[in-house]
Amino acid sequence: MPNKKIVVLTGAGVSAESGLSTFRDSGGLWDGFDVNEVASIDGWHKKPQKVLDFYNLRRIQAAKALPNLAHLHLKKLEENFEVVIVTQNVDDLHERAGSSNVIHLHGKLSEARSEVDPYEIIEIGINNINIGDISKDGTQLRPAIVWFGEMVPMIEIAAHEVSTSDILIVIGTSLAVYPAAGLIHYAKNEIRKIIIDPSKPELISLSGWEHIPKRATEGVPELVNDLINTILNERT
Ligand code: APR
Repeated sequence: MPNKKIVVLTGAGVSAESGLSTFRDSGGLWDGFDVNEVASIDGWHKKPQKVLDFYNLRRIQAAKALPNLAHLHLKKLEENFEVVIVTQNVDDLHERAGSSNVIHLHGKLSEARSEVDPYEIIEIGINNINIGDISKDGTQLRPAIVWFGEMVPMIEIAAHEVSTSDILIVIGTSLAVYPAAGLIHYAKNEIRKIIIDPSKPELISLSGWEHIPKRATEGVPELVNDLINTILNERT
């Protein structure tokens, strides 16, 4: 009997207790920065240095952060389930917690890409990107982040994973940004759908969703232990 497949859609809330800011909570990143200036192609063309500074700062912050109990328990799920993490986050905390199947919808801070070719990507770890750093195709390197209005190359793969999941877990996302938010509609009606977030995103209608109104480091361990105990009891 193959393991049940769990897809976990995460947002900034899963990394909040690792010390990384969310976007839309009070005091979040979009309170301090103008989205159009630092996370849009228009902002890149107008003030590339401002964009590079924004992501160089976030890259260092993410490197200093540590996976929290939520990330670590999602890794633990892999002992008894097939687990696919679909994250909107650009940090590597899921990977550093040991999750082995992570899909980044909005890119990664640890990568840079060609200005013209989104698939010409290099690994940069925690290094800065500076004006004058050139890609193999001769263009200026930019953060390998999906900016507002840009294509999300991994969305079809992510939608397939959600549509073939037996359980869908959503953690720490306002579900305010498409196409990521629309992924929840690919889940089969009959499967178990759970959201872990102190507040409930508007997109989640009352019907069919279980809401665990807790912070990730409390709600995720509780749910993971519950899922593992249930599956072990079923097997005995
Ligand atoms: N535990 C769980 N959830 C939390 C916690 C926590 N400790 N702290 C905050 N949250 C929840 C908030 O209630 C909110 O629902 O996390 C969510 C954060 O929402 P956003 O700040 O909008 O972040 P996110 O949904 O990831 O944003 C999506 O928007 O700006 C773009 O590309 C960016 O990937 C990002 C996308």
